Amino acid sequence: MGMAKSDAIVFFGASGDLAYKKIFPALQAMARHGHLAMPVIGVAKTEWTLEQLKDRVRDSLTEHGGLDTQAFAKLSGLLRYVSGDYRERGTFERLRKELGSAEYPLYYLAIPPSMFPTVIEGLATAGCLQNSRVVVEKPFGRDLASAQALNRTLHAHFPEQAVFRIDHYLGKEPVQNLIYFRFANPFFEAGWNRRHIERVQITMAERFGVAGRGRFYEEAGAIRDVAQNHMLMVIALLAMEQPAGSDHESIRDERAKVLKAIRTLTPSDVVRGQFRGYRCEDGVASDSQVETFVALQVHIDNDRWAGVPFYVRAGKCLPVTATEVLVEFKRPPRPVLDETEPPLPNHFRFQLNPDVLIVLGTKAKAPGERMTGERIELVARHCSGDEMGPYERLLGDAVKGDPTLFVREDGVEAAWRAVEPILGATTPLYEYEPNTWGPNEADRFIGKGGWRSPQVST
Ligand code: BG6
Repeated sequence: MGMAKSDAIVFFGASGDLAYKKIFPALQAMARHGHLAMPVIGVAKTEWTLEQLKDRVRDSLTEHGGLDTQAFAKLSGLLRYVSGDYRERGTFERLRKELGSAEYPLYYLAIPPSMFPTVIEGLATAGCLQNSRVVVEKPFGRDLASAQALNRTLHAHFPEQAVFRIDHYLGKEPVQNLIYFRFANPFFEAGWNRRHIERVQITMAERFGVAGRGRFYEEAGAIRDVAQNHMLMVIALLAMEQPAGSDHESIRDERAKVLKAIRTLTPSDVVRGQFRGYRCEDGVASDSQVETFVALQVHIDNDRWAGVPFYVRAGKCLPVTATEVLVEFKRPPRPVLDETEPPLPNHFRFQLNPDVLIVLGTKAKAPGERMTGERIELVARHCSGDEMGPYERLLGDAVKGDPTLFVREDGVEAAWRAVEPILGATTPLYEYEPNTWGPNEADRFIGKGGWRSPQVST
């Protein structure tokens, strides 16, 4: 445990989807940046040879981000493969052998949570758990009770400091910038509260549908898939207080505090939608009540944010793929000089994808005789270089034993508590046409000015 660097990475679910889409590309990136110098052991039931695993890795890299011949060669040299059933002792004995002299293994459970107890018991019985850490993916449970049960399962063998719960949004560069930007610019931070801010909107729009993940999505829906985790995390970063120190627990404390201050949502705070055609997807019930769109009204009950609504909108089959935060300031109380109405309020836009933008909405004098203004946006655009993707960053941090960007037990439980009453089919479901901004009912609570949709340059 402690902060020792891991000296082996073991990932369960080596033949699965997550490994294919995210873990292999992250490992190649780590190899490219010189951050991978330990055995990487894949475990899965599929009866592959090591060569077959390498072929699979090559395919994954070609499809997701591109093959880097040198980095791939390096990664290949570190790969090992253990095939076997997670319920069999022999699987873990073979793993034990592959681990060799490794003293600080990192176990990445890229498998369904229902398998966690079996795998952890298997590791324990084979004596593989000493000084180890465990990485788990979202969804972390389906509700508060199952998240607590998962925590108990993990804590039976791992202390909390050894548990690394991934919410990949926390690993994204522009998401990290939300905190940095706030605290590095006292000029803005001074107005970052209920006295100056009218409301906040967060839109996570995806043009695509469930893209072959119908079966998974039926178990999730937009609230469990992205609202309980990614969206609440973005709110936490926008709303948290400045951490007392730069150590990981100070930062996690502040994130958790905001999540705990979120008022438990009620049915009147939510609008659920489902795109027309969802029920014809593979693996989806013909009378499915699962939402592919959700709009939420979130309140934070603390001094800084009392009375400031945070509106969230997330959905599939919307007109664009973009994630954006819009912070709307209060409108000035009086008109300026020749104007008849108070000027439009200031705003900030943080576009997190596809472009990374920081935009300040201001007013300036319109050219001409009269002292009246026009709205101008000051735009800073980040041109990304070869920067770290979220999985590379998070896997690297887990190897180093730095839990800052991982969700702590109290944070994950607070987030479930907030959404618990609106999970499942407890609220009406409205159909919407693909390629629209969700059902009209989503306008219900947003009020004046409505939702501002992200502008995407094509
Ligand atoms: C995942 C969800 O956690 O996040 C997906 O399961 C969603 O449904 C994805 O598409 C979005 O992540 P990103 O990084 O592509 O914005």
